[in-house]
Amino acid sequence: MKRVILDCDPGHDDAIALFLAAGNPEIEVAAITTVGGNQSLDKVTRNALGLATLAGLDCPVAAGASRPLVAEPQTAGEIHGESGLDGVVLPSPAMSLDPRHGAQVIVDTIMSAEPGEITLVPTGPLTNIALALRLEPAIAERVAEVSLMGGGAREGNWSPVAEFNIVVDPEAADAVFSAPWPLTMVGLDATHQALLTGEVIDRIRALDTDISRFVVDLFDFFIKTNLTEQGFPDPPLHDPVALARVIDPSVTSCKRTPIHVELTGTHTRGMTVTELRPWIEEPASTSVALGLDADRLWDLIVDAIDRLGTR
Ligand code: BDR
Ligand code: CA
Repeated sequence: MKRVILDCDPGHDDAIALFLAAGNPEIEVAAITTVGGNQSLDKVTRNALGLATLAGLDCPVAAGASRPLVAEPQTAGEIHGESGLDGVVLPSPAMSLDPRHGAQVIVDTIMSAEPGEITLVPTGPLTNIALALRLEPAIAERVAEVSLMGGGAREGNWSPVAEFNIVVDPEAADAVFSAPWPLTMVGLDATHQALLTGEVIDRIRALDTDISRFVVDLFDFFIKTNLTEQGFPDPPLHDPVALARVIDPSVTSCKRTPIHVELTGTHTRGMTVTELRPWIEEPASTSVALGLDADRLWDLIVDAIDRLGTR
């Protein structure tokens, strides 16, 4: 059993990552923390509470940073809608919000667990993780690993060279990539291979449970916005990939490389710079995911949704 903290900004693909965590028998959700990103902090926190309720989770849910460390806030309403999770109606939360700041919950959860017990899975801007490192730098030696969705070695989506989660808070990303913990950047190189096809949706629809119908409604909205905004006929479902490789490392193929976040470039702020030249070997505690076993990913997701629906 692996215990994970989901630090997220739900978000359609964050929602599927949460369902994957809740439904997979190898994963226990230790805490959910939210960060302003896809929508304002209030909205994504409401979404997280509703999703946790739907998934039957019983763990702390805490709101974290409402804005980036330095940059002006940006949201992604054009992809995720006005609520951050358009296309579905969420249940009223069954739990109340943990009164602590999300960054404090991250610190408390990691420091009260055994060394190597907690895995951090951030799927939004990295503000809470950077704040948690500032509050308690020792978390870097205590987590099993950090597996985050963000960045890309060769691709961008919010600019020609930068991905949304990183470009929203590049200073936070810089702190997180520089900390001495094992970290895998599951960025666009891998997640642009996680394409949500009609065949996958048919498999989920065929489960015919409350959760599967909710997921299909989420996808209906997400497919439309990804097509009109980014031209994807089958949208990439980014965030679950970062968790799927924690469940089964063979889901992604990775290369060890230093990762630097561009903070000052005129046209490249938020770019994640990796070293992929095969003849250069630099020591690093960071890796980048480059390849994806999409069949294995979808099997894990369909199985988790199936298990949730029959509870
Ligand atoms: C990332 O940005 C957000 O819109 C998604 O939820 C995902 O975490 C993809 O660039
Ligand atoms: Ca996200």
